[in-house]
Parts: sequence; structure tokens; C-alpha cells
Amino acid sequence: MDNALIEISDMRKIYNPGENEVRALDGVNLTICEKEFVAIIGHSGSGKSTLMNMLGCLDVPTSGTYRLHGLDVSDMEDDELSEVRNREIGFIFQGFNLIQNLTAVENVTLPLIYRGVGRKEREELALKALEKVGLAHRLDHKPAQMSGGQQQRVAIARAIAQAPPIILADEPTGNLDSNSTNEIMQILRELHSEGRTVILITHDNEIAEKADRVIQISDGKIVSDTKQDSDLERKQENE
Ligand SMILES: Nc1ncnc2c1ncn2[C@@H]1O[C@H](COP(=O)(O)OP(=O)(O)O)[C@@H](O)[C@H]1O
Ligand SMILES: [Mg+2]
Repeated sequence: MDNALIEISDMRKIYNPGENEVRALDGVNLTICEKEFVAIIGHSGSGKSTLMNMLGCLDVPTSGTYRLHGLDVSDMEDDELSEVRNREIGFIFQGFNLIQNLTAVENVTLPLIYRGVGRKEREELALKALEKVGLAHRLDHKPAQMSGGQQQRVAIARAIAQAPPIILADEPTGNLDSNSTNEIMQILRELHSEGRTVILITHDNEIAEKADRVIQISDGKIVSDTKQDSDLERKQENE
């Protein structure tokens, strides 16, 4: 495939090798192309977060290969891996992972400081990202002063500030009510329609149906991989 973004071949991740070993990923083969909107679905303990850690270059597999944008990342050293991660991927987590004593704009700016972005550019990027998620009026609010949905929007702003090509979201709506869930899904769809690759990990079938492709994982193996007409479903939803 010429626009393959992610190519995973026979990937295994074994925790606690030996008697009590856990085969969290057990021979995963997966190709994801640029600009896809993919949901990865499975029950608790099926290996979703482990797969996300691999996809996101947060951890390396026990065996198998992972090519990201044509680069073999499966046996990169930590510093190389973090460079790829910073350049390619914006992360969104279930628990938002915001810093409680920083404001919204400070939370979005912090990773940019670590990446050596100058002050003026940092502020511009953070403001633009917070505007994009509809929080331009909440710049100086701290997490405790915002709803769960707003906190997740700050986390999304943090993830997209430097416009990474890939958005990787692990149960992003797991802690949210249905209104906030819809808001977050709407933002993910927008990011996808702007040309980003969105990978959404969830145990919730209803959420997964919003994606264009659903990959089901069970006991560390891919058990189904289906394309679906989510546009049609969206139209029906709006009727
Ligand atoms: N750091 C770890 N050490 C040992 N076992 C782990 C670790 N992380 C996950 N596991 C195990 O690997 C399996 C897959 O876990 P996980 O990827 O978190 O699944 P999911 O996100 O689908 O709930 C589970 O059996 C889990 O207990
Ligand atoms: Mg998980």
C-alpha cells in the first residue's frame, strides 16, 4: 500500500515472561493508511492499551516489527523514539492527564516548552489550539474549575497544538457524560476531516461506530476488521 502510515507485522508483547507470562499482544498484523479514522475495540484486558502504547511509541514490542512512516521504530532507542513520538503523535487519554495547578493555556503550553518552542510561538499555538476546541474563553481556568468535557478539550488542544499527523486517543470519552462525549467525538471527526489520521481506542461499540473502520481485538489478537459507512450513519443520526 503506497500511503501506508502504520505497518505492524507479527507483533507480540509479553509481560512477565516465564511462568506467569501475559501475552497482551499475540501476533498482531495491522496496516493503517494516512487519513484513516479507525476505532480499536475490545473488552477490558483484551490488549487495547498495550496496542496503543506500541502504536504511540510509548513502549516497544517483545517481538515483531513496527514501521511508522516507513521508519522501523520497533527497536529504536528511547531518545530516538521520543523524537518520533513528539513529531508524529498527539495523545488523548481517558483521565485527561492535565496538571491541576496549571491553567488551561499553561497546560497546553507546557509540552511546547519541553520541545524548545519559543515563547511567542508557544502562546500563538496554544491559543489557536484552545480556540479550535471552543475554549478561547477559558484560558485562565484550572482543571478543577472546568467540567470533564472541557478538561478533555484542553487535553485535545494540548495534543494538537503542534499539528501532529496522528491522533491517538485511549478511551477519550470513558469518563464523560453523553453530551460531552458527543462534543469530543465531533472534535475528533473535525480533526479527521482536516486530514489527520485518528485512532480511537474504546470498549464502547456505539462510539466505535463513528469511525470509518473498526478493528476488534480479543486476547491480544485481531479478530475482525471492518470498514463501515459512518457518513451514512451520521446522516441518519441527524434526521
Ligand atoms: N505492565 C503490565 N504488566 C503485566 N501485565 C500487564 C501490564 N499491562 C497490561 N497487562 C495485562 O495485559 C493484558 C492486556 O491489558 P491492556 O492492554 O491494558 O488491556 P485493555 O486496555 O484492553 O483493558 C491484561 O491481561 C493485563 O492485565
Ligand atoms: Mg485500556
